Amino acid sequence: MRQFLTITAVCVGLAALTPAYAGDKVWISLGDAALAQLQKHRPAARAVASVKADAAQDASALSFAARPEGIHLVEVDEDALASLSHSIHEELRRCGGYMYHPTQEAGLASLKRHSTPAASQQLAAALVATRPSYTIDQQAVVTPILSQMQASNIGQTIVDLSANINRYYTSTSGVAASNWLKQKWTTLGGGRSDITVEQFTHSGWAQKSVIATIQGTDNGSEVIVMGAHLDSINQSGGSGETMRAPGADDDASGVASLTEVLRALVQANYKPRRTIKLMAYAAEEVGLRGSQEIANSFAAANTNVVGVLQLDMTNYKGAANDIYIFTDYTDSAQNTFLTNVIATYLPTLRVGTDRCGYACSDHASWNAKGFFASMPFESSFSADNPYIHSANDTYANMGSQADHALKFARMAAAYAVELGSDGPGTQPPTDKTENFSGSLTRGQSKSFGPFKVANGGSLAASTTGTGDMDLYVRKSAVPTTSNYSCKSDGSTATEGCSVNMTANGDVYVLVYGYSAGNYQLKVTYRPQ
Ligand code: BES
Ligand code: ZN
Repeated sequence: MRQFLTITAVCVGLAALTPAYAGDKVWISLGDAALAQLQKHRPAARAVASVKADAAQDASALSFAARPEGIHLVEVDEDALASLSHSIHEELRRCGGYMYHPTQEAGLASLKRHSTPAASQQLAAALVATRPSYTIDQQAVVTPILSQMQASNIGQTIVDLSANINRYYTSTSGVAASNWLKQKWTTLGGGRSDITVEQFTHSGWAQKSVIATIQGTDNGSEVIVMGAHLDSINQSGGSGETMRAPGADDDASGVASLTEVLRALVQANYKPRRTIKLMAYAAEEVGLRGSQEIANSFAAANTNVVGVLQLDMTNYKGAANDIYIFTDYTDSAQNTFLTNVIATYLPTLRVGTDRCGYACSDHASWNAKGFFASMPFESSFSADNPYIHSANDTYANMGSQADHALKFARMAAAYAVELGSDGPGTQPPTDKTENFSGSLTRGQSKSFGPFKVANGGSLAASTTGTGDMDLYVRKSAVPTTSNYSCKSDGSTATEGCSVNMTANGDVYVLVYGYSAGNYQLKVTYRPQ
C-alpha cells in the first residue's frame, strides 16, 4: 500500500499541467517504456529523434549504472500527458518522468548531448565552468555556523510557505509566495550591500523564481548555486486557483533549508570569495521549466557556475540512511565531494545512494547544460514521503518538526562555505597515475605503496592481464586477502576498485594471483 501510495503521489504530478497550455503541443523526451505507453494511447505519437540505449547515458554518471533505456523526442498534445502519466503508473508500476522542452530545437539539442559520452564531455568542455579543488579545510568557519542552525527556523518557514492554498506556478497564491520569499530573503540579508535578492521573470507564466546573491569578495565570477523549488502541485488537479497543495515537504522543506543557510551565513557575517546564489525555482512541478530557463540563461551568458546543489524534499526520513545522494543526472566528482563534506561535518549521519531514473528535479536542468550538479535526497527513491502532490503534504504529517531538514541545511551550509572560500585560480589538484606490471604464480601476491592520497581525493586501482588476478586496496596498511578497504576478485585478470579519502592518508594496493598470470596494474590517485 505504501509503495502504491508513493508511486501515485510521485507520478501523477506529471499529469497536472496548466490549463493555460491546454490544447498546446509540447516537446518531451522520454524512455522506451514510456514511449510505448504513450503510443498505446496516442498511436499517432512518433519519435522525431531517438538515442539508442547503450549510447544514452550521462557522461557524468558513467561510473554508476548506465541508463538502461533509449531516449526519444516526441511532440504531444499537452493534455496527452495526463493519460500518459496515469497509464505508466497503472501499467508499468513506476514513474513516468519526462523532460519538457520549449522547442523542437531544444529537445534535439538535449538528445544530442546525451547521444555519446564524448559529445556530453565536449559540451562540458565548451562551458567555462571551472572544476573546483574540493579540498575540505574550512573547519574553523563551518563548525560554528552549523552549531547555531536550528530546526525550528526551518519549521517556521515550512509553515509559512505551506499556509498558501497552493504555490502553483500560474496561481495568485503561487505569485504571492514568490513575493513573500523575496521579502523574507531580503530581510535576512540584513541590509548588507554584498547581498541582493531579485526575482527572475519567466515569459510563459506568472510565478517568478527568487534569487538571493551573496557577491564573492575576490573570486566573484565563480558562482555556486543552491536551489530548491518554490512551486507546488496537487496531483488530483482542480483549478490552479483553488487546488489545495501545501507542498510542505515538496518542496517548502528545500526552500526552508536554504533559508536557514542564508540566515546562518549572515549571522556569522560570512563573506564568501566565490559568489553564492540561492534559488527558489518557479514551475518545477510542470517539467522543470523555471530552472531550465535559468540554467539556459546562465549557460548562454557563459557564467562560470562551478557547483550546483539541489534540495528537493528534505524533511521526511523514509529509509535507514539519513541522506541519499542521487547518482543520475548529477556529477560524480561533486557527489564524492559532498559525501566527504558530510563525513567531515556530520559524521553521525548515514549516507546512501539511489537514482530517480529520470529527470526528477531541477538539478537535471543544470546537468543538461554541463554544470556539476548534486541532488541529496530525504530517503531512498521508493520510500519517500507518500503525501507529496496531495493536500496531505503538510507539516503536521511530518510530525510538525524539521529535524531531518536540518541535516540537509547543515550539509548545504558546509558545502557553501567549503566551495565559497576558494580564491581565484585555485587549480584543481591533478590526479597522478602510476603503472606497474609483472607476473605472479598461483597463490603469490605483490603489494604496492604507500600512495600518499589527499583528503577529499580518491585512489582507483585497476588491473588487466592474463590468468586470474585479484585486487585489494587498503587504507593505512598493506591489504591481505581477508583485510582490505575494497577488493575486486572476479574470475579474470580484469579488476578495479577504489577508495575515497576523508583525511590525508596512506593507501596500499595488493595484487594476488588466484591463478598464475601476468598483470598490468594502474593506480590513479590525488596526491597530498
Ligand atoms: N520532488 C519531486 C521529485 C521526487 C519525488 C524525487 C519523489 C524523488 C522522489 C519533484 O517535485 C517532482 O514531482 N518531479 C516530477 C517530475 C518533473 C519533471 C515534473 C516527478 O517526479 O514526477
Ligand atoms: Zn513534486
